[in-house]
Amino acid sequence: MPRLHPRVLHQAHKSDTLLPLVLRATRDLTSAKNELRWLRDFVAEPQRNTGNILDNWAARRKLRQLCVERAKGKPLQYIMGTEYFGDLEIACKPGVLIPRQETAASVTHLMERLQKSKLLPEHVKLLDLCTGTGCIPLLASYELVQKYSRKGRLEAVGVDISSRALSLAERNLRRLSQDGTIRIEPPSSSLSFIRADILAEADHNPSDCVSLMTALQLYEETQQSNDPTADRKGGWDILISNPPYISPSAFNRTTTRSVKRYEPKLALVPKDADASQYPGIDPGDIFYPRLLEIAKQVDARVVLFEVADLEQAGRVAAMAQQQNIWTVIEVWRDNPSQADDYGGSEQTSVATGIKVLGRGNGRSVFAYRGGAKA
Ligand SMILES: C[S@@+](CC[C@H](N)C(=O)[O-])C[C@H]1O[C@@H](n2cnc3c(N)ncnc32)[C@H](O)[C@@H]1O
Repeated sequence: MPRLHPRVLHQAHKSDTLLPLVLRATRDLTSAKNELRWLRDFVAEPQRNTGNILDNWAARRKLRQLCVERAKGKPLQYIMGTEYFGDLEIACKPGVLIPRQETAASVTHLMERLQKSKLLPEHVKLLDLCTGTGCIPLLASYELVQKYSRKGRLEAVGVDISSRALSLAERNLRRLSQDGTIRIEPPSSSLSFIRADILAEADHNPSDCVSLMTALQLYEETQQSNDPTADRKGGWDILISNPPYISPSAFNRTTTRSVKRYEPKLALVPKDADASQYPGIDPGDIFYPRLLEIAKQVDARVVLFEVADLEQAGRVAAMAQQQNIWTVIEVWRDNPSQADDYGGSEQTSVATGIKVLGRGNGRSVFAYRGGAKA
């Protein structure tokens, strides 16, 4: 990382003696000033300090401590405890991946497309694999129920292997329901979080985390016993996943120090041990054949998988093509609803017959099957 020029540090110090600390993390003055302002507001909020407004001296001391943490590279979201994901403020904590804006943009775009299309049945079932903070099913539910006032039933389930992630997802669900941001009211809508290992095809060892199919079966049994009259036949209409997709070598070469130090590797890199089960597959791609297989098993009509870039998008789109079950496969960039960098709204380049939509880096692979147009 290049050193900051002493002139820039001097300029920052003249503006505020704490600014050089934040500048060490942000590397640019405008971002540093914004972050310092947010941190100052954060320290001034009485509820962050168990109901007390800190006196000037205590507030300054607290602010300095947070700026020192920031200077060491701790993400602002872990310091302040939240991050915006679309319209939702999602709680974050170390050990669980911080939700990214690009993921939110894909989810928002998907919900808009599905709402406009005739693809969604009366009772929609949405499965989010590798749910982390639960941000994806929370935003999808918010978009469909609140934003589009969709009639009919919405049943969403988020799955993760990490107990820490699942307890944060539950906390996010409680918090956003209690403050009225989202309305999840059974039986018209429900959102559950369950623990499973998505890569496990069977349950070999009872002490391990169960496989997805076992976890889904247990979930179905619970739903059926809660409402014995319900018709629980049928699969999961929408399957979304933002899986770990960075290969170990890319992690070592390109991942920033802050991400490496503070965000969980389990969320970023598929476990090394799993690579041997998928010969010939790029180590960063391990989750995708499994996700596509699951899509078939649960009879998904629509899938949306996040990827690292256009190259990975091309490989995943080709895997989906090989399944021969999808009516349309598309690659979406970071901002899928915007016109692309070259002026048009779509571009065919990644693999034969695959449209690339939007502006920015390659971000996700979308596919649907069925007669209606999504
Ligand atoms: C890239 S993060 C995505 C988190 C969240 N969906 C988001 O977009 O911010 C990937 C998540 O996959 C989970 N994970 C990793 N391996 C898994 C596995 N074998 N089965 C289930 N979840 C897994 C991690 O715990 C992590 O929460």
